[in-house]
Amino acid sequence: MKKTILDYTLKIRLPITLFVVALAFVATFYISRAERDGIGYAPEQPIKFSHELHTGKMDIDCQYCHTGVTKGRNALVPSVNICMNCHSVARKDKPEIVKLRDYYKSGEVLPWKRVHKVPEYAYFNHSVHVNYGIRCESCHGDVRKFERIEQVKSFTMTGCLDCHRHPEDQLSYIKNVKKGPENCWTCHR
Ligand code: HEC
Ligand code: HEC
Ligand code: HEC
Ligand code: HEC
Ligand code: HEC
Repeated sequence: MKKTILDYTLKIRLPITLFVVALAFVATFYISRAERDGIGYAPEQPIKFSHELHTGKMDIDCQYCHTGVTKGRNALVPSVNICMNCHSVARKDKPEIVKLRDYYKSGEVLPWKRVHKVPEYAYFNHSVHVNYGIRCESCHGDVRKFERIEQVKSFTMTGCLDCHRHPEDQLSYIKNVKKGPENCWTCHR
């Protein structure tokens, strides 16, 4: 008996269609999950600033630029003035440094793209963690090796609570490490 188009559709097209649909679901699931976690987010920045060069090779202290880490909620990203402490002289003819100087001269704020962000309704504070002795790497990865900053850890509620409940897994370098709070109101004020 001769096969009709309908037979082909059911036998070949339908399974293929179902397969593609299933694949699409799986893909969307992982993509949207990645977006929610933020893991792997590494936007291109307006100036190619390398942490590897400045903190890995040159060994500049994190706090030279991120002056807020022991003082309050935000680590703070440095203003162009701090860069110009060195770059009014260092590598001043390189294209990226010429760009930097243009921002400096115009007084325009450098539009760095924010990488890590918890939603407004959740409260995070750098100084509490940093002053307790938690290293930047425990939350941001080994930044000294990063050419470009990338989010490596999840800061969803589960991400925060994983460490608060089992700090010994992530903070083995702190002796008799204490647990972080789990009360809703410490993070949702
Ligand atoms: C010379 C200045 C300078 C030093 C030193 C420095 N940073 Fe940065 N940092 C920056 C600038 C500028 C940015 C914003 C641009 C970017 O993301 O690369 C930044 C961004 C970051 C971010 C991402 C911020 C966001 O948007 O979420 C992290 C995390 C970070 N730095 C960690 C560190 C750590 C850890 C160290 C020490 C090992 C360090 N930085 C040392 C200048 C510096
Ligand atoms: C303590 C001094 C110092 C500070 C502060 C500093 N830099 Fe640098 N930077 C250097 C030196 C030195 C080099 C060259 C290093 C090398 O090539 O070995 C460099 C290299 C660079 C380069 C690569 C230039 C090229 O193409 O060769 C860029 C881009 C840059 N810095 C941007 C910045 C930005 C943006 C800031 C501020 C957030 C900053 N730097 C702060 C000393 C500094
Ligand atoms: C306990 C985890 C944790 C530690 C430790 C930590 N950070 Fe962060 N960092 C975060 C989170 C979460 C955010 C996003 C905060 C927000 O959206 O308010 C962030 C944001 C940042 C930012 C960008 C926004 C801002 O706060 O100004 C920079 C820069 C930064 N961290 C640098 C550092 C440096 C440098 C250190 C070490 C001295 C450090 N962080 C230690 C979790 C951490
Ligand atoms: C790597 C471990 C680690 C991670 C990740 C972490 N915390 Fe913590 N957190 C701690 C520890 C340990 C303490 C207790 C510090 C203390 O009491 O001195 C703490 C304390 C706190 C406090 C109490 C502050 C206060 O005023 O008493 C808040 C709020 C908090 N964390 C929020 C967060 C949020 C929000 C996140 C996720 C974005 C987060 N933490 C991620 C380890 C962590
Ligand atoms: C250690 C800090 C921390 C504690 C403690 C905490 N939360 Fe959260 N919570 C967060 C963060 C950070 C987010 C944002 C997550 C994201 O970006 O997806 C969040 C998100 C939420 C959301 C939004 C939905 C979701 O899951 O993303 C709800 C609802 C919530 N928290 C309720 C609670 C309740 C109820 C408690 C007490 C049982 C609690 N939280 C304790 C940090 C915390």
